[in-house]
Parts: sequence; structure tokens; C-alpha cells
Amino acid sequence: MSNKDIIILGIESSCDDTSAAILQNEAILSNRIAGQEVHREYGGVVPELASRAHQQNIVPVVEAAIQTAQINKNDIDAIAFTRGPGLLGSLIVGTSFAKAFAMGMQIPMVEVNHMKAHILAHFIDDPEREKPNFPFMCLTVSGGHTQLVIVNDYDDMEVVGTTKDDAAGEAFDKTAKLLGLPYPGGPIIDRYAQEGDPTQIKFSKSNVPDFDFSFSGLKTNVLQVLQKKQKQDSNFVQDHIKAICASVQTTILDMLFDKLIKAMKHYNIKEVAIAGGVSANSELRQRLRDTGNQYGWKTHIPRFEYCTDNAAMVAIAGRYEYLNGHFADQSISASARLKV
Ligand code: KG4
Ligand code: ZN
Repeated sequence: MSNKDIIILGIESSCDDTSAAILQNEAILSNRIAGQEVHREYGGVVPELASRAHQQNIVPVVEAAIQTAQINKNDIDAIAFTRGPGLLGSLIVGTSFAKAFAMGMQIPMVEVNHMKAHILAHFIDDPEREKPNFPFMCLTVSGGHTQLVIVNDYDDMEVVGTTKDDAAGEAFDKTAKLLGLPYPGGPIIDRYAQEGDPTQIKFSKSNVPDFDFSFSGLKTNVLQVLQKKQKQDSNFVQDHIKAICASVQTTILDMLFDKLIKAMKHYNIKEVAIAGGVSANSELRQRLRDTGNQYGWKTHIPRFEYCTDNAAMVAIAGRYEYLNGHFADQSISASARLKV
């Protein structure tokens, strides 16, 4: 290890994944994630259960991250943690751990915005990927957010479009629940959609002005269309589940791409990235490549492990805060509604 190496421990606990990662400069040495199965039977994340599971998982996950990275905990120069946005009880576990670790080890701590971290995951060293050039547009799509962000620099981001109601991931999860599929619905809809014909059943797209999104009408529309079909054929949903999933997915992606293309043209930006849990979606990834080819954009698609919540993205975001000397002090508290 050279003297200039900076080692950062990243901590993520904003929703239902407890994660710890070790970053050396811009390279990830380990990225450990403990998911939470307890929410599955409830069809969504139960905040109280999430905080309890974080409390149980955080120490073992950090130990595993340190061990996997084959470093000593004394090698860590700073701890980066997600301060928000997210579930308050969950964020408090990560924030409190970071404060205790920083105090115990006498190292600085840096706060990280979860949404910025999803975007900055594109700057983790990866031999198979080029890093984005500024400025680029990022379509950030997760279970809690849907945003179009112009990224001018590591710490200079402008949100130009956002959802007026549900997030894109929520649209996947809520329609999946309606179809009797388990939580989280996104990956299951993705899988079924690969074998379904999206033109068989049509759902309506909603439109709002400018570069904003609206997804809450979709689940009502799906419910209405399917109730009508079920009246004629009580097995309609079971027998057509793949086509329904393909159509739901295509409708969500159509709405996302309408606004993405409009924003790219309006702001005359030629480089685009996707981030957040929904960026794991196979059709979204393929469509970004195709649309990029069509419009001459340079496209950036994250590694699967950096799409859904993880601490590697928190560590890289923390690195830039650290380099800028933006340190948090012991009076810091978690913030559920932190903005980009
Ligand atoms: O970023 P993330 O892990 O957590 C939040 O910050 O919200 O995103 C979780 C969301 C869930 O709504 C989940 O259904 C969705 O990402 N998701 C997907 C896929 N994988 C995860 N949505 C569509 N297709 C996927 N393959
Ligand atoms: Zn997230």
C-alpha cells in the first residue's frame, strides 16, 4: 500500500439492505450485503422490522467486509455512511454505527446522500467500463425515487425531472403485488416479461408536463383492465401472466424514455447513465443501448451489483466528500428526506 492510498469504509442502511464496503482509492476491495427476507410475506418493507434487522446485521457485515478486503481495521482512513434519504429508523442504525466507529477509531466520517451515491457508483474502477464524462444525464430509478439528474461534477447535480407520485420501482412492486407476485416485484416482472408479448394487452400511459413523471395511475389502470378480463375468464391473470408483465414493463419504460429523450434533446446532452434498483431491469438496459445508438449518445450501464442498494456506492461518494474536506461531526443525525 502506498502512502497516498485512501481507504474508506462505506455503510448503507437506508432501506432493507445492510451493506458495508471497503474502497481503496477508486477500487472496491469488498462489498458485502445482508438482505432482509422478513419483508417478503408482507409484500413490502416493514420499517420497524427493517431497523431491527439492520441492528442485528451491521456488525457482522462490517466485519465480513474488512475480512474480505484483507485489510486491518486500522488501515481505514474514514467512514462514509448514508445519512438519507430513506427510512429514518434504518438510517439511524447506519449513522449511529458510523459515529461510534469514527469515535472509537479516531478517524473522520463523511455523510453521503443515497441518491447521489447511486449516480457516483459509475466512478468505481471497472476494467470493463469507461467512466462518464461531465456533464451527463442520469436517469435514477429506484424503489423510492425517479429522477432525471444533470451531473455537472461529483458534487454538482441538478434534478430536472422527478416523479409527482410513485417511483418507477414502486410501480413495478405495486403492480406485482396486485398480480399476486412476491416483493420485490421488479425482478419477477422482468423475468416473466422476457417471455411475454407486450402488445397482447395494452395499459395506458399517463403524462405530466416538462420532464416529470407520474406512475400512480398505472396500477389503477392495470386493476381496471384485469378486472374486466377476469369477468369473462376467471383464470385470465394466471394464464396471461407473462404478457401482462411484459406490457406493464413496456408501459413503465415508455414513460421513462419519453422524458429521457425529451430532456437529452432540450439540454443538448450526449452522455447518459442509469442508476438505482430499476437500472437492473434487462429491457431498460437494452433499450438504453438501442436508444443511445439511435441518437448518438454515449451510454453508461452499471454492473448489476451496483444497481440495487450497496455500500460500494456509498464509499465512492464518500471519497469525493473526503477529498473535498467535507467532514461530518458527532452532532450529525440521519435525515429521511435529504435532497440531491
Ligand atoms: O435502489 P434500490 O435497491 O432501493 C431503493 O433505494 O429504493 O431499488 C429497489 C427497487 C425495487 O422497487 C425493485 O423492485 C426494483 O428496484 N428492481 C427492479 C429490478 N431489480 C430491482 N425493477 C425492475 N426490474 C428489475 N430487474
Ligand atoms: Zn437505492
